Amino acid sequence: MEVSRICCIGAGYVGGPTMAIIAKHCPTVKVTVVDISQSQIDKWNSNNLPIYEPGLEEVVFECRGKNLFFSTDVDNVIRDSEIIFVSVNTPTKKFGIGAGKAADLKYWDIVARNIAKVANGPKVVVEKSTLPVRTAQSMAKVLHANDRKIHFEILSNPEFLAEGTAIHDLTYPDRILIGGNPTESGQKAVGQLEWIYRHWVDDKKILRTNLWSSELSKLVANAFLAQRISSINSISAVCERTGADVDEVARAVGMDSRIGPKFLKSSVGFGGSCFQKDILNLVYLCESLGLPEVAAYWEQVIIMNDYQKRRFSRQIVKCLFNTVSGKKITLLGFAFKKDTGDTRESASIYIAKQLLEERARISIFDPQVDPGQIDQDFLEYSILPTELKSGERVDQLVTKETDVYAACENSHAICIMTEWDMFRTLDFPRIFSRMEKPAFIFDGRNILKHDELRKIGFNVFAIGKAS
Ligand code: NAD
Ligand code: UGA
Repeated sequence: MEVSRICCIGAGYVGGPTMAIIAKHCPTVKVTVVDISQSQIDKWNSNNLPIYEPGLEEVVFECRGKNLFFSTDVDNVIRDSEIIFVSVNTPTKKFGIGAGKAADLKYWDIVARNIAKVANGPKVVVEKSTLPVRTAQSMAKVLHANDRKIHFEILSNPEFLAEGTAIHDLTYPDRILIGGNPTESGQKAVGQLEWIYRHWVDDKKILRTNLWSSELSKLVANAFLAQRISSINSISAVCERTGADVDEVARAVGMDSRIGPKFLKSSVGFGGSCFQKDILNLVYLCESLGLPEVAAYWEQVIIMNDYQKRRFSRQIVKCLFNTVSGKKITLLGFAFKKDTGDTRESASIYIAKQLLEERARISIFDPQVDPGQIDQDFLEYSILPTELKSGERVDQLVTKETDVYAACENSHAICIMTEWDMFRTLDFPRIFSRMEKPAFIFDGRNILKHDELRKIGFNVFAIGKAS
């Protein structure tokens, strides 16, 4: 069952950390991560890694050059590897059939065709990306449409890591899920992948299923997690109108061991590259299967999340006397959660857009997000209303600060968008003294001490709490 050479196609948030952890725990296995992006690979080979993830640098610096390599030589690395993980992006399709819901499998398809073209012997191909159910079947068709009679075995091995805690999640996974064909060669491939994980994961945590259960379980796990957040966020609206406190309710409900305490933190809305994309993918699947009631059930999780974001920006406008036009509003945090520089689908993006539509001036501070990334997001998400797109006007409306106190200076309102620990210990009397009055704080993460802020003089609005 031993394996000596593996690779991963796609050196992103999943491919990089996952392979680094495999390299660390399997010193006899040569692990190569490949990507079509030269700049991405250059960063993985530098001292300035392309993603921020606590603990990642230590692992990469320990293994790189020994049994962990980063390369753009995709074809040769495919030929050299026994197991090929594929971890390319699978975003929501923006065009044509299924636009706005189905997964865009373009990158995945290109990779499959390339493996079929360049492979010179049998390979195990592992789905690491999150994919629609039965992708393995399409993959098998593409891979086996070669005239060299090469055999490919496809496995599904979805990844459950969360950003910000990736190294911990990979080191101590709740489970490793491996879906494979029931055939002899299918089970042999499952055994090879198990051999890798057994280097550091207890046997009891390795779960074997059929391919379709594995593919579907990944979508369902994300849907369940997101559903919990939308559920507590829906209750936050009830709390604000009744005097109940959403954190107290979450605690009381979560202490029921059948419900459990995790993923019940009310917020301005979940973000990240996957929850929305994967639920939409599930919704599309259900619609395609002729199950409209099931599709509508899961779509409501997204509808509730959009409602939560819109509710937050409306609250800001309402509290600031129904006009934010020309007022400076500071967004503290632009990443979709703490301990990552990732901004994909961050709630901040939507709140910035909604406030700019109201003609507010926005100031943004995030300890990890590169200002260039914020510019890119503004473009990609079409954040600026059309009539405000001229360069000069944009600079007057949006400022990106590298100092948190400068970001808050002369501000009318501060919004906590990301739960970075550093925001808990800011010098709020200092901030208050340099703000416009009346000064407002909107705590979109419920991480601040609201009574103390009120004593300083702030007007405080917090999700799911009486104002
Ligand atoms: P990412 O965008 O960070 O990385 C994908 C990488 O694939 C990019 O660097 C891109 O250049 C590369 N790529 C695209 N086409 C390629 C090709 N033809 N050849 C070589 N490289 C190519 O994406 P990600 O966040 O790592 O997500 C990857 C997959 O894993 C997605 O399906 C996602 O749903 C899933 N996933 C993500 C997370 C997460 O926390 N980000 C967690 C679990 C699962
Ligand atoms: C999520 C899942 O947790 C991972 O298991 C999964 O592998 C991954 O998606 C994926 O498939 O991409 P991630 O999106 O990185 O991981 O981060 P989460 O910790 O799940 O947070 C997602 C969003 O929900 C963040 O915006 C976070 O702030 C928000 N959240 C989370 C809440 O608002 N409340 C909570 O109680 C928990």
